[in-house]
Amino acid sequence: MLETVAAAPPDPILGLAEAFQKDPRPGKANLTIGVYCDEQGKTPVLDSVKQAERWLVDNETTKKYLGIDGLPDFLRHAIELTFGGAVPADRVAAFQTPGGTGGLRVAADFLASNFPGARVWMSNPTWPNHPAIFQAAGLATEVYPYLTADRTHVDFASVVDTLERLGKAGDILCLHACCHNPTGADFSPEQWEELAELSAQRGMLPLVDFAYLGFGDGPEADRRGLLAMLRQHEEMLVCTSFSKNFGLYSERVGALMILAAASETADIVRSNVKRLIRANYSNPPRHGAAIVATILADADLRRLWESELAAMRERIHQVRRQLVERLRQLGAPRDFSFLLDQRGMFSYSGLSPMQVDWLRSEKGIYIVGSGRINVAGLTPENLDSVARAICEALTV
Ligand code: LMR
Repeated sequence: MLETVAAAPPDPILGLAEAFQKDPRPGKANLTIGVYCDEQGKTPVLDSVKQAERWLVDNETTKKYLGIDGLPDFLRHAIELTFGGAVPADRVAAFQTPGGTGGLRVAADFLASNFPGARVWMSNPTWPNHPAIFQAAGLATEVYPYLTADRTHVDFASVVDTLERLGKAGDILCLHACCHNPTGADFSPEQWEELAELSAQRGMLPLVDFAYLGFGDGPEADRRGLLAMLRQHEEMLVCTSFSKNFGLYSERVGALMILAAASETADIVRSNVKRLIRANYSNPPRHGAAIVATILADADLRRLWESELAAMRERIHQVRRQLVERLRQLGAPRDFSFLLDQRGMFSYSGLSPMQVDWLRSEKGIYIVGSGRINVAGLTPENLDSVARAICEALTV
């Protein structure tokens, strides 16, 4: 039977990371997958995480299964961190999930089983796994144009026009809370307000992907878009990830939070989602969630984590400035100052697929086919050679 199975293409992001590992060239640079690197090009374990782990080693008394929805302390903190106290916790059906991706998949399964006719509207472009996840759950997907023709900023007029014309009551509106992946171009606070009003008028249900809380301008500022949606919507789905902001990538810590208008509805929703999770991974892993809960419950550890998060965020801002400046000094044939308006790990460089291929084959510089660069992968060691290679790619 297995001989009849056709090969599948490699994943557009993880597949490149695999190709990078196999590349023997010494000067290679990996700017693909969204993983933060420090100045040495390492992705270290945060000190706050190490301290929490030490505490757990000494104090954890059991490795018994968690409940289907996960660790209660983690869920309480996840709700507080995500919504910043803006909603009563009893209106939120919350689930600890294997990463943000796991949360999105559970959300998609919940939507598909309860609203099979719903269409999910995503930005074009979006994270390539968004359509894959929604379609795998059996949901129909649609796209709204997102970028200006020069692919540098949000084309808000087109977003509004598309949703006004085509968005229908019962459709799902997938939004990136901050640090839009793959472009780094976010809605302004005013645009969030307008979008919130528009989506509420159209009767669309927001699904907010909040994978980069704290990586844009800090947790409070990064929540602005979500809060704007909350002012207009009493129901929404939010998926968060603790991979980036706690550096817990391989621990797979995320959460799905479904906000209902009333706590009774949240309870009914919870019962449904628990059934879906039970038939999927049964219950989530404890360790990463216990780390997050330990850090957020302890004032000193929390302060340490906040400072480590700020250091990651500030390094990314600094690298953006350095890259733009280096490209300018090298006489790049286009102005890259738009990178400074972008937020988070990613930037849409504007490089064409051909230029992306050339960078990989000729220079060993790996970026995603869409032209997305993981800015957080640039270091003092590789920044100059990457900037030079980009300039060359633009002229070949
Ligand atoms: C990315 O976009 O690189 C990250 O979100 C990691 C992933 O799973 O794709």
